[in-house]
Amino acid sequence: MPETRNFKHLLVTGGCGFIGSNFVRSVLEWRPGVRITNLDALTYSGNLENLADIEGHERYTFIKGDITDGGLVQTLLADCDAVVNFAAESHVDRSIQDASPFITSNVLGTQVLLQACRNTWGDDGKAGRFLQVGTDEVYGSLPIDKPEELFTESTPLDPSSPYSASKAAADMLAMAFHRTFGMDVLVTRCSNNYGPYQFPEKVIPLFVTNLMQGEQVPLYGDGKNVRDWLHVVDHCEAILSVLEGGRPGEVYNIGGNNERSNLDLTHAILDIMGKGKEMIRPVADRLGHDRRYAIDASKMKAELGWQPTRSAWPKGLADTIGWYQDNTEWWQRVRSGAYRDYYEKMYGAASS
Ligand code: TYD
Repeated sequence: MPETRNFKHLLVTGGCGFIGSNFVRSVLEWRPGVRITNLDALTYSGNLENLADIEGHERYTFIKGDITDGGLVQTLLADCDAVVNFAAESHVDRSIQDASPFITSNVLGTQVLLQACRNTWGDDGKAGRFLQVGTDEVYGSLPIDKPEELFTESTPLDPSSPYSASKAAADMLAMAFHRTFGMDVLVTRCSNNYGPYQFPEKVIPLFVTNLMQGEQVPLYGDGKNVRDWLHVVDHCEAILSVLEGGRPGEVYNIGGNNERSNLDLTHAILDIMGKGKEMIRPVADRLGHDRRYAIDASKMKAELGWQPTRSAWPKGLADTIGWYQDNTEWWQRVRSGAYRDYYEKMYGAASS
């Protein structure tokens, strides 16, 4: 096992988003000595309500701001010994509509953060550690008829969408700062996350909240695309173990060991919610739609002793559906406003 590092004060970027907010909440609970500063621009998907329960926590500070603001980042970093970069535009369909925010936040934002770390932590950046939270989508697509094929950390990058291309660029920039300057940088690449507080443009909360409103669920193409579903708290645990025990300059794949076709996923949601198949509305396929993502997470197990314990179905899915059923006010507010315009543009149907 590699040496374990203890950090005192994390700068978490994008901590008001889905994965970031689960990470902030979990780390405050799991690591009683750790302080967290959360820098979040509160764009459409970042929501202060996601962390309403820890507002006022003595080890937590929220700062509204953008990761492309180098001066602000540097000021915050002065007291921090690690960065965990969650801040990103993350929805493939939005990147197909307009790629520019993806380049600004995901590529430029990552470069600004990395440079601010060097400016603060010394030329080699070694006074701190930088963890870039990435995605398995950078590897492109696997075939559905070869289940033995999985993404490993050495699978060549071959992104399909503007989103995944921007994340591949960010990963490479992070690694370049390690190779060029010796900075202590690590990259994680996860499979599809699910769980509480996910923005309902993503398939699971979109389908669950549609069904709760009596609306059909828009299933893309033939529904045979496969995703490896990882519970967000499993993911947060894995990120923390990489942060504390990972080796500089290394990539770690994080998966749920839980591959499902979209059709199977949809049927499982319908079953749990007691709805019939007539609630499925087949719609045109997504452009450039990756067929299958599946992660080989054996490096995480071998090096860090981590493996998913919450991702398996049906429990993980049923608990998640239960969370959306218990938190209708949260998603009703999130689904109103600007999101409603996006939804109508995508699916042409009214959404409340
Ligand atoms: P999504 O949640 O957007 O995640 P990603 O594109 O990062 O995998 O989509 C998951 C899968 O669900 C993907 O294969 C596309 C499909 N999908 C639908 O069939 N209908 C939808 O309305 C959405 C949003 C996604």
